[in-house]
Amino acid sequence: MKKTILLLSVAALLAAGCQCKQGPAATPAETVMANILQRKSVRAYTDDTIPAQVMENLLRAAMAAPSGRNLQPWSFVVLTDKSQYDSIFANNFNLPMFKASAAIVVVCADTTALMPPRDNRNADPLRQPNHLWRDDMGAVTENLLLAAEAHGLGACWTACYPYPDRMEPVKRLLGLPATVLPYCVVPIGYPAGDNQPKDKWDPARIHHGRW
Ligand SMILES: Cc1cc2nc3c(=O)[nH]c(=O)nc-3n(C[C@H](O)[C@H](O)[C@H](O)COP(=O)(O)O)c2cc1C
Repeated sequence: MKKTILLLSVAALLAAGCQCKQGPAATPAETVMANILQRKSVRAYTDDTIPAQVMENLLRAAMAAPSGRNLQPWSFVVLTDKSQYDSIFANNFNLPMFKASAAIVVVCADTTALMPPRDNRNADPLRQPNHLWRDDMGAVTENLLLAAEAHGLGACWTACYPYPDRMEPVKRLLGLPATVLPYCVVPIGYPAGDNQPKDKWDPARIHHGRW
């Protein structure tokens, strides 16, 4: 009797496995929607390290972000040496979270750019303020977070700009150029514990035609 039940259970499992394989694959829209809706801030990580190819994928996704006038004001400093963290992140950062992460990406912004004036695109480019840099940096950071989610990683956007106490040691100890500031700091690692996305859907925020 026990043997029969065991055989039936194995048959059921195999059938379920076949159904999974033969079932319809997720559409691109379903895959993208699941990625966006599953993203959440993760602040606890396992000890597993992040393969170099995976980190490159995350940065590749980040750099695919849209950019005003396509100036791409971003650069990244990737940190994995935890002995650096006490001095760089001592001021008002969540140091235990950073120390638990496998890697930290410091997302940096050049607030200036070489560009011709908007009213004379044929003029010689001059170094001047890029008024759209913050917008670009939000896009680049979100792309990084979504790519982390897609690779089974957890990450947490941690503000650096506009807080002087957070920015100063990061800028100084990482040797950022004068026109470059640390926009945010993103610890990344394989998630530990239970991390669930928040449901932020609120139809009351949507206005049709006019407010
Ligand atoms: C601009 C910005 C700054 C943030 N700064 C911090 C921070 O300093 N520390 C932190 O733990 N989380 C920070 N977060 C993460 C937010 O707390 C988090 O996104 C928010 O609570 C919503 O949760 P979710 O990301 O899981 O959807 C920041 C997020 C953004 C967009």
